[in-house]
Amino acid sequence: MLTMKEGLTLLNENISNLNLRKHMVAVSAVMGKIAELQGGDPAVWEAVGLLHDLDLERLEQDEKAGGPPVMTRHGRVSAEMLRGVLPEEGLHAIMAHNEEGTGVKAEKPMDFAIVASDTVSGLIIAAALVMPHKALAEVKTSSLRKRFNDSNFARSVDRNRIMVCTKLSMTLEDFFSVSLEALQSISKDLGL
Ligand SMILES: [Fe+2]
Repeated sequence: MLTMKEGLTLLNENISNLNLRKHMVAVSAVMGKIAELQGGDPAVWEAVGLLHDLDLERLEQDEKAGGPPVMTRHGRVSAEMLRGVLPEEGLHAIMAHNEEGTGVKAEKPMDFAIVASDTVSGLIIAAALVMPHKALAEVKTSSLRKRFNDSNFARSVDRNRIMVCTKLSMTLEDFFSVSLEALQSISKDLGL
């Protein structure tokens, strides 16, 4: 298993967009907390969160150069890049986070967790950005529930993907609470 430091090096080597880097760091933090609750290995779950979008910039460049659409290969290429680096279950989770493109179904707790964490982090960051100081400290679990129900808020955030948390025997409230706490714990890294 690679260390967090090695994971960050890999991330920085492959991803130049700062917002995308922060997104991956955010998903990693949520995955670590969920692993603790699910009895998973936090190191593996965090690495899956940190590296799940590792192929995105490569695939965007390929598409621009006339290659296939990004989403048809997203996840599968990350898994290829990480073979031997992450355990097989981690590669499965990364492929399952883009089931439509890879055809790999989410079926294990880590798979459900990456789908829901990937998406909830977007909702929470959007919720922080509309607060007076644009700070995660200003966001409350109760306000996340309202933002979730407001379909005009952060429209690109797919609520159905967040609901996948219920497959982890967690309520939506619990999932918001744990995810918010995870992001607040790394607010400095996220600059929020
Ligand atoms: Fe993602």
